[in-house]
Amino acid sequence: MQTRSRAGRYPGVRVIKIGGSVITDKRTFKLNYAIANRIAGEIAAAVSNGIKVGIVLGGGSYGHVAASSARMLDAPPADALTLVTMYMFELVLAMADILASKGVKPVVYPPHSFCDPDGLVPRCNWNSVLRDMKVGVTPLVYGDVYACGESWCIVSGDELAIEMACSLGSPLVVYVTDVDGVIDADGKVIDEIHVDELEESSIVEQQKTGSKIDVTGGIKRKLDAIRANRCLTLREILVTNGLREGNTYAALMGHGSGTRIIL
Ligand SMILES: Nc1ncnc2c1ncn2[C@@H]1O[C@H](COP(=O)(O)OP(=O)(O)OP(=O)(O)O)[C@@H](O)[C@H]1O
Ligand SMILES: [Mg+2]
Repeated sequence: MQTRSRAGRYPGVRVIKIGGSVITDKRTFKLNYAIANRIAGEIAAAVSNGIKVGIVLGGGSYGHVAASSARMLDAPPADALTLVTMYMFELVLAMADILASKGVKPVVYPPHSFCDPDGLVPRCNWNSVLRDMKVGVTPLVYGDVYACGESWCIVSGDELAIEMACSLGSPLVVYVTDVDGVIDADGKVIDEIHVDELEESSIVEQQKTGSKIDVTGGIKRKLDAIRANRCLTLREILVTNGLREGNTYAALMGHGSGTRIIL
């Protein structure tokens, strides 16, 4: 009962995608340990309050920069896979270390080995994740690459988060980013919007990513990911700013701030 009352709007499992925009600068090979440490602490606090959390990591300085380099070099597919998977291992293992130091029990599931994506649909074997969660582990997946035909393709954390939520029964996906939410044409943060309204508007194209390196697209990719993977049990996507202390914890507890995208 206590967990239920503390859990706010959504009891049970929550899926959170920690964007590369918040834990890296999406440019140089660098993890922002101070922010990663604080966010991990907020996740640990939610877990110790009885919330089951599924974590997805975005590519940030690791996946986006490595994939962009492989494209620029026109690297053969096998070289691109080696490069990007190794960089993402580096990021995810660092994050797993930090989470473990806070008392979370992370287990890493490499998407290139348990998913068989079809376009924007990751098609992962979430049964193995559900199996392991029964003993109290916190699954950690991440944006990754895989061989597709004679080439190589990207499965982004944005679509993994939606499919994971649908498969684990999470009614909520939290996108933790470096912005206060989805920004409208007047530069204001939208408090709440139905996904269909968001789709019809041009607001997703508003902001430029500046000097950041990005191979999948910012808010637009999130909308495409939602559209491709949504399910009846998924009720809400919250876009929140992880640079602000407390936002990640509040979001996991079901009363976060940012933009609520209603499905
Ligand atoms: N309408 C909008 N509202 C808010 N942000 C927007 C909008 N349009 C574009 N953006 C951009 O989207 C960015 C967030 O997406 P981005 O892909 O950079 O982050 P992320 O998904 O957290 O990172 P990663 O892809 O590495 O996981 C913001 O920093 C902003 O520049
Ligand atoms: Mg992104």
